[in-house]
Amino acid sequence: MCGITGIVTRDSDSIGELLVRCSSKLTYRGYDSVGVAAVRNGKVDLRKDVGTVEEVNKLLRLSTMKGDRGIAQLRWATYGAPTKVNAQPHFGCDDVFYGAHNGNIHNYVEYKKELIETGHIIRSENDGELCVHAVDKYYEETGDMFESVRLSIQDLKGAFAYAVGRADEQEIYAVKMGSSLVAGVAEGATIVSSDLPSVLPLTNNVIYLADGEMLVLTPDDVKVYRIEDGKQLERVPQISNVDAHAAEKGGYPHFMLKEINEQPHIAQDVVGNLDGPRIEEWLKLIEDASKHYLVACGSSYNASIVGTYYFNRLAGLPMLHAIGGQFQPQYGMTMDEDSLSILVSQSGETKDILNVLNLIKGDNYGKTLGVLNVIGSTLMFQADSYIPMACGYEVSVPATKTYYSQSIIFAYLAAKLGERNGHIDPSEAKSFINRLRNDLPALTQTTIDRTGILAKNLARTMIDVKDLYCLGYGFTDGVAKEGALKIKEICYNHCEGMYSSEFKHGPLSIVTKNYPVIFITTTEDSWMVINHINEVKARHGRTIVVGEFEETLEPYVDSKHDYLEVPTSDVLINPILDVIPLQLLSYYLSVDLGINPDLPRNLSKTLTVD
Ligand code: BG6
Repeated sequence: MCGITGIVTRDSDSIGELLVRCSSKLTYRGYDSVGVAAVRNGKVDLRKDVGTVEEVNKLLRLSTMKGDRGIAQLRWATYGAPTKVNAQPHFGCDDVFYGAHNGNIHNYVEYKKELIETGHIIRSENDGELCVHAVDKYYEETGDMFESVRLSIQDLKGAFAYAVGRADEQEIYAVKMGSSLVAGVAEGATIVSSDLPSVLPLTNNVIYLADGEMLVLTPDDVKVYRIEDGKQLERVPQISNVDAHAAEKGGYPHFMLKEINEQPHIAQDVVGNLDGPRIEEWLKLIEDASKHYLVACGSSYNASIVGTYYFNRLAGLPMLHAIGGQFQPQYGMTMDEDSLSILVSQSGETKDILNVLNLIKGDNYGKTLGVLNVIGSTLMFQADSYIPMACGYEVSVPATKTYYSQSIIFAYLAAKLGERNGHIDPSEAKSFINRLRNDLPALTQTTIDRTGILAKNLARTMIDVKDLYCLGYGFTDGVAKEGALKIKEICYNHCEGMYSSEFKHGPLSIVTKNYPVIFITTTEDSWMVINHINEVKARHGRTIVVGEFEETLEPYVDSKHDYLEVPTSDVLINPILDVIPLQLLSYYLSVDLGINPDLPRNLSKTLTVD
């Protein structure tokens, strides 16, 4: 939910420019406030304020800051309002220690009290400040920075990562304790960061870290140590093949539109990855389990809902699905050593999901299978196995291509499982997987091309809509919830996603003349959905349809742009395509409303807090 970047370099004039250039790639992790601490000749220059990197850089000229080392932090507010004093980085008691964190310090209140009682001057309401004071505290006892950082961890409870330095020491130190952290080694400079995109502008020579490890950065190398006993660990940098420019917009006005348009290629990459040898490992994990859970948050949860329909239909396999924070109270007591929990998280860092992971590992509640996009994430390292979503970095806060990738993964796994357990004929399984591999990329491109202009025109007619429903049935249950989430996330409208047969049991009362209700259909269930459309039409509501063109549905839409028509395919492909017009509708409506869809207010791409 925040992004930290620390750099040590031989070049003593460029630290400001380097930190701004690298840390700005973390904007999707938080943009409530930004700060840079730059060190030159033993003096720390600390500049920070509310706003995005561009805004604060313009205000405080961050890029001009001189020095050969420094730390930058982009904040998504949790403890403490988004104010200048709560912005990071922070000093310790004086301007000798400087540092910044990402994550949550759960014992913030009591530890702050303890520090104040022992004479520490705490300036902010932000928990990150305590990380710097903890190091300051142990330095008074040990006089040694490495030991002070190592010992500081014992005072801090929660899930976090932080970087810290002393004005009079060349090194920057960093610790990973439950939040993401990755490092890089360039020529004459090293970097530590919350996420890979901010390392890549400097180097693709990457060091992945695990929880309980700490780093010491000098201009020439990054040393890794185990926090518990201070033992140095051998960690050879790996070449990352993630394209640094993938984090650029590639000519699109927003990352979101770029990432929607990447989906046709992603279909090929995702299926290609599933065609690989590791599929056996994943299928066996599922087959060996007696109980199966799908656990996720946000858009990943909506994709998981679609997944439950595929597992039912193609494999006859019941998947209990739950929102991350809901899982333990809802299903915690039903798990046993024969359970398999499929943890779906594109970032691999969502705290609600890592909490479930820790619960399962702590009490031996069976195995875990991660479905994740970020290689090097905590979920990747700690799950028993993981399926890479193979869709490249998703920078825009609202998920699009990662949701699409997850839908394909569930469809593919379900077909394979159904073939092996005899629930469907091998010919049906093979035919469907061939359609995913050979037809879906082109169908996705056609859907984008065909519904883009329709969605743009429809958006224009919805500029004053503040409240609406988005309804799905069968396979499009999760699609409707995802479409509603997109509109909520980036249009700031209230759009409720729900099951269309449920709408008459109460919510129908909202419908008055022209009240908009979006219906998402597949060819298999439009005969049923037409009843639900009629219930709205009979009360003069405005019905908008998403799905293949069907003559029976045409009389229910009042104009061409109220029918977001996807190309002809079949009931199993429909749900993967039906989300695309909704992605585009929310995108164009957001832009028409003057909102930046990539950075919607109050949100963050990765929530590493409870
Ligand atoms: C939210 C993001 O914070 O986390 C959503 O804004 C995302 O876009 C959700 O779907 C879950 O994230 P992840 O990384 O666990 O899939």
